[in-house]
Amino acid sequence: MNFDKIIAVRTGKTVYKDGGRTVKVFDGDYSKSDILNEALNQARAEEAGLNVPSLISVDGENGRWSITSSYINGKTAARIITETPERTALALEALVNAQLLFQSYKLPLLTALKSKAARRIAAAEISDKKRKELSELLDTLPDGDSLCHCDFTPSNVVITDGGEVYVLDWSHASRGDAAADAAATYLRIKFESEEGAQSYLSLYCEKSGKRLCDIEKWIPVVAAAVSVGKSAAERNFLLSNI
Ligand SMILES: Nc1ncnc2c1ncn2[C@@H]1O[C@H](COP(=O)(O)OP(=O)(O)O)[C@@H](O)[C@H]1O
Ligand SMILES: [Mg+2]
Repeated sequence: MNFDKIIAVRTGKTVYKDGGRTVKVFDGDYSKSDILNEALNQARAEEAGLNVPSLISVDGENGRWSITSSYINGKTAARIITETPERTALALEALVNAQLLFQSYKLPLLTALKSKAARRIAAAEISDKKRKELSELLDTLPDGDSLCHCDFTPSNVVITDGGEVYVLDWSHASRGDAAADAAATYLRIKFESEEGAQSYLSLYCEKSGKRLCDIEKWIPVVAAAVSVGKSAAERNFLLSNI
């Protein structure tokens, strides 16, 4: 593959820039259905009129699948925080404002968050006792019908020079309780920074009017669900939150 430049390398994935496009190339371990699901979620968000990269194509070549989307010119909130720590509060505020806007949308065709969480808890590397406790806890939590990106993190939020906010990386999107989406963001930020995670949570509660306890209830369930398929370091961190 011959693209202009690599913009991100992750385990099993490389993202290239090619003119005005980005090409996210997956290694052979990803199933067709995972790739199509990510692209379909992104297409649904795009068709709802949300600020997401426009989906251009899904391709398979030499056993490697790729998703091509429009390139969003700007900086991720993660990059802003790393390069200019004094702008952390501003970047988090832009993230929370965008997250609340996205959560106000209803995309009924997305996978139900609670069913997905139940399947993942069944596959998590936890004791059977914990699995039972978490499954019972999940049953008591609200279904909800908000658009939940479920990976609404600084590295998936791009802020353009004009201040517009775009959201990338739609593999985990589902419909459910917005508090679960906030719990997922909290855990992702906490993996990098405890202080950042606390700032995020206070800001989210303040702006959404939600009670902290309603987000906290989701934390163990979300931690177990998102631990599946993560690196050992992130999995251990997540499982320490259940
Ligand atoms: N459409 C895009 N426009 C601009 N940058 C992008 C785009 N897609 C991906 N990126 C960059 O590549 C990084 C990884 O892409 P992402 O889709 O989030 O992959 P991953 O699933 O590995 O997190 C992002 O954090 C961002 O810096
Ligand atoms: Mg990402």
